[in-house]
Amino acid sequence: MNQHLQKIFDLIQQTDTFSEEEKTSLLKAIKSAENDLMISEFKLERTEKVKRTTAILLEETIEELEQKRKSIEEANQALSKSLEELKATQSQLIQSEKMASLGELTAGIAHEIQNPLNFVNNFSEVSNELIDEMKEEFEKGDKEEAFAIADDIKQNLEKIYHHGKRADAIVKGMLQHSRSSIGVKEPTDMNALCDEYLRLAYHGLRAKDKSFNATLNTDFDTSIGNVNVVPQDIGRVILNLITNAFYAVNERKTIAQTDHEPAVTVTTRKIGNKVEISVKDNGNGIPEKVKDKIFQPFFTTKPTGQGTGLGLSLSYDIVKAHGGELNVVSEEGAGTEFIIRLPIM
Ligand SMILES: Nc1ncnc2c1ncn2[C@@H]1O[C@H](COP(=O)(O)OP(=O)(O)OP(=O)(O)O)[C@@H](O)[C@H]1O
Ligand SMILES: [Mg+2]
Repeated sequence: MNQHLQKIFDLIQQTDTFSEEEKTSLLKAIKSAENDLMISEFKLERTEKVKRTTAILLEETIEELEQKRKSIEEANQALSKSLEELKATQSQLIQSEKMASLGELTAGIAHEIQNPLNFVNNFSEVSNELIDEMKEEFEKGDKEEAFAIADDIKQNLEKIYHHGKRADAIVKGMLQHSRSSIGVKEPTDMNALCDEYLRLAYHGLRAKDKSFNATLNTDFDTSIGNVNVVPQDIGRVILNLITNAFYAVNERKTIAQTDHEPAVTVTTRKIGNKVEISVKDNGNGIPEKVKDKIFQPFFTTKPTGQGTGLGLSLSYDIVKAHGGELNVVSEEGAGTEFIIRLPIM
């Protein structure tokens, strides 16, 4: 028994102040108090125990949380490192894709440069002969004829200059194509740009595959005027679309039907303050389940090693950067049409 209660208990028992009955009642009350006290002590002890265990648990949880925070931080660092690596790889890939398409273009470019070069060579040869003739006329004293020949020579020199300029523009375009710098927007003759890249793509393909043939149709709206674009970028888009179209018609011809007449049509239209460039083919079309993916980077259905799958994704980005849109309409077994819409401004 608790020592204070014990003292009270002894005192009550020894004293004569209380009757026997009162004593029994008082002692009963003391025993009951002793009982309550014991229960309270027990409860207190239990609460203390719970407190101690909780404190330990709390400490452990805090430690665990700290460890988790650390590993999340580490994972985060690793993640941002691989993101950086991914970005670097992607820009390398984009650059090498540009170089690869430049390689594809080389044959087309060679063909394009050959034409103006032929003109330059032929007209300089003819002009050389004309100068001899002019000299003869001077010796004969036929001044009038000599002047007429001089006029011819002047015309020839103008042609030489014109074709020289053209070769110059082709080489410049080629250099711009391989450069990774950001181009500058300039007023551009959209029809001429389409025509140029259509021929580059066609001759590029023909140089690789002599059996390749397709009907090329163009329907250019001459009312378009100049459009403010980065010519080498929009040229790239047109080239990508035309190359895809040629690939599609060729695939249909070689794999499916031999009597199929491959055709690619490039159309330009002015609609309000927008210009619309459409590249349409009569190839196999794009299956519905593939349509959602074609603008994703690296998506390709070409055999491994043949396509990077970056053509359409880059094209989409370029058109977006010009404030325009790039859409596709395709029907399986019938063909595909890609439509670029650009603001004229
Ligand atoms: N005119 C088209 N007809 C049918 N399918 C097309 C056409 N254009 C694109 N596609 C589909 O979209 C895919 C992605 O085209 P994208 O130009 O991005 O890459 P790619 O042509 O496969 O490769 P790369 O352009 O690098 O040579 C193609 O693999 C093809 O499945
Ligand atoms: Mg492509």
